[in-house]
Amino acid sequence: MNSHTDGIAILDFGSQYSQLIARRVREANVYCELFPWDAPAEKVLGLKPRGIILSGGPNSVYDPGAPQLPAYVVDGAVPVLGICYGMQLLAKALGGVVASSTHREYGQTDIELDPGALFGAARAAMLPRSLSVWMSHGDRVDRVPAGFRVIAHSANSPIAGMADDARGIYAIQFHPEVNHTQHGREIIAHFVHDVCGCGSEWTSAGIIEESIARIREQAGNRPVICGLSGGVDSSVTAALVHRAVGDQLTCVFVDTGLLRKREAEQVIDTFQREQGIRLIAVNATEEFLDILQGVTDPEEKRRRIGEKFVRVFESQIASLDIKPQPEMPGVSTGAKTVMLAQGTLYPDVIESRGPERQTAAKIKTHHNVGGLPKDMQFELLEPLRFLFKDEARAVGSALGLPDSIVWRQPFPGPGLAVRVLGEITWERLERLRDADAILQEELQRADLLRATSQAFAVLLPVRAVGVMGDGRTYSEVVAIRAVTTDDFMTADWARIPYEVLARISSRIVNEVQGVNRVTYDITTKPPATIEWE
Ligand code: XMP
Repeated sequence: MNSHTDGIAILDFGSQYSQLIARRVREANVYCELFPWDAPAEKVLGLKPRGIILSGGPNSVYDPGAPQLPAYVVDGAVPVLGICYGMQLLAKALGGVVASSTHREYGQTDIELDPGALFGAARAAMLPRSLSVWMSHGDRVDRVPAGFRVIAHSANSPIAGMADDARGIYAIQFHPEVNHTQHGREIIAHFVHDVCGCGSEWTSAGIIEESIARIREQAGNRPVICGLSGGVDSSVTAALVHRAVGDQLTCVFVDTGLLRKREAEQVIDTFQREQGIRLIAVNATEEFLDILQGVTDPEEKRRRIGEKFVRVFESQIASLDIKPQPEMPGVSTGAKTVMLAQGTLYPDVIESRGPERQTAAKIKTHHNVGGLPKDMQFELLEPLRFLFKDEARAVGSALGLPDSIVWRQPFPGPGLAVRVLGEITWERLERLRDADAILQEELQRADLLRATSQAFAVLLPVRAVGVMGDGRTYSEVVAIRAVTTDDFMTADWARIPYEVLARISSRIVNEVQGVNRVTYDITTKPPATIEWE
């Protein structure tokens, strides 16, 4: 991705924070890529990195089969920063002494930076002498290799950092990438800018310019199709591809009937009218309701929706008359002649490499709208595959997408089908849409939409007794789910103020026909999941 920008290569030795290192480098406006530690040297060096960062990792350097330091890292070509395990690897490889510590140092620790400062450059002078940092290690460096000086120490780690300025090799025992480390961002920025000499070219404008060039190069004059769901990823993809190839792009938007209130209109309005994108909107509500009739099992709902979605999408594409035409001018023989744009993000790319995906227990079948028709021949166009979500959002804003799209909370592919628990009928879907719209309105009014990572209403598969006027009611129950989370892997329930909850509850029972009770879900993930199904 870095044909025009400086880049940093990060070697991943298995730390849970490796992605965070990449995020921090990007936040310093420097492009970087994360590679498995044993990636072929040509691949890593193909990036022409201006510096290499070695991540932490769960191993001891003495574990049998522990990840090793690739030889090219220390051949002196570019500066190196080793973090935690990365530091121990450097010490061991360059002739220092690494020992198993008598006790693990884990958590918040105070370190003293030694005079001469971190990387020996001006910016380091701005750091205080004493820092509270995040440590998580067993092994420790007991003697630095020849040519190194000690740059930091803590009570349990007399050598909490080391540097060989002449060779440009630096190492720290603590984790500058985590929020718990004071001035961690500056330490990383200092390394990539002052030590490696990277500029600050990785900005939305730079990303857009470079992406457009790449999309044009990859697409040539071929038609591009994009399944648009209205979520952040597919929206930014569509806007970016449209900026690059204009009317070569056709977006297909499927209204499954499982969307939120006014969502379909908003997507059509934004993309067709405001962005001027050629958009085929399909109303497939009846078809989806048909296949969901009588189905209550969550996985069965997901399976049927996924399958139907692909079928509807396929039949739309087939009717577009842009099927592969081998004789199309400008297309090399053998190339697939239609491209499918998808909003794959960098974390998806990184995570799909790991073995965890295959071994992890299946909790739910996640799928995205815009799923790939299995037997259709497309070439994939994934312009966001090197971007983190926050970068994709910034690009979307810079391309003129409204905040309501760019800051949209995640919405599951199967839509409201997994929020209408039990049987799905049009009446129940409408009930949930109305309740959810009230929730969104009140959160917006209280300025809480951005403070909650995800907030939505769920229609429960039970009825409850109530009293209205002088009469008995026996109606449905709505649960409100609102969570805060950084990564959606774990989540806490949002502490929405009581007054706001009171307004939401009172409006829902008064304004939504057929609902007489509202509950607030106060469960964390785990053990619950964010969605109820
Ligand atoms: P759970 O419920 O597993 O959800 O805690 C984690 C995040 O994933 C979203 N989610 C989905 N996203 N397709 C998607 O694209 C799906 O099938 C799907 N199911 C859940 C959920 O909304 C939350 O943000």
